Amino acid sequence: MNPTTPVEDTVSDQSPHAFSGREPVLQARGLVKRYGRVTALAGADLELYPGEILAVIGDNGAGKSSLIKALSGALTPDEGEILLDGLPVRLRTPIAARDAGIETVHQSLAVSPSLDIATNLFLGREPLRPGLLGSVFRMLDRPRMRAEAARHLDALGIMTIQNPGQAVETLSGGQRQAVAVARAAAFGDKVVIMDEPTAALGVRESRAVLDLILRVRDNGSPVILISHNMPHVFEIADRVHVQRLGRRVAVLDPRACSMTDAVAVMTGALDPVELPEEAHAPGAVR
Ligand SMILES: Nc1ncnc2c1ncn2[C@@H]1O[C@H](COP(=O)(O)OP(=O)(O)O)[C@@H](O)[C@H]1O
Ligand SMILES: [Mg+2]
Repeated sequence: MNPTTPVEDTVSDQSPHAFSGREPVLQARGLVKRYGRVTALAGADLELYPGEILAVIGDNGAGKSSLIKALSGALTPDEGEILLDGLPVRLRTPIAARDAGIETVHQSLAVSPSLDIATNLFLGREPLRPGLLGSVFRMLDRPRMRAEAARHLDALGIMTIQNPGQAVETLSGGQRQAVAVARAAAFGDKVVIMDEPTAALGVRESRAVLDLILRVRDNGSPVILISHNMPHVFEIADRVHVQRLGRRVAVLDPRACSMTDAVAVMTGALDPVELPEEAHAPGAVR
């Protein structure tokens, strides 16, 4: 994958098939998930391409969280398959998904407040001290954690966080969310998934997290962004996946489709076939 190639360059001819020669990084095909008589996923598809931010929008109950849980190993679908770099994968647990390079930032305050920033970044995969101190005494390599934490925060331009040894509880909501995003960006070599990352944040903090998401993409990890905030979606998404009644009903081009039309498709007020051709994003399967 070439992380420096903007999606726009490769689709400049606006051909609906411009994506067809590119392989999705992550793909879901026909996912089904039932909870008793409730069908949360009714044959859901998704494709995430290299170098893009794919927004997932949908009404409450549309199956957004279920879809994201299936892609992050938190839920096992009853039917369907998930492909990573074109190969079928079984993401049986969140750890299996993380090991495969899929990192998920769950909704708001996805960090442990009483721990410091560096510890939060490495939670669950702390490096051990070299030699016997690590292998026998299981001592954590704190200097390395702090140095690497500083490097990751710096790579994302989080300049306001000065000291990776600072407790997360002393940070603002936006800074905490920045730590969660930095963690995902540091370890999500293939895919970063964010569920409503700005839902609990103020205007300025949201701005910082949106900039961070753009930087994560530009640093090479494609991003799936679940959001209810249409201005945020339309500002940063390259394509907009619309989920409705457990399935994808459209993939829209935010540069060519209005927010009003996107919301109308989302609620079922507008059939996506009524939209002009250019409102549909390249690579959309219809
Ligand atoms: N653990 C569960 N048990 C029973 N029903 C569930 C469960 N999780 C989700 N559902 C149902 O599945 C449907 C889709 O839910 P969800 O994926 O959370 O949608 P969204 O995130 O788009 O709001 C809803 O009708 C919801 O009530
Ligand atoms: Mg949800």
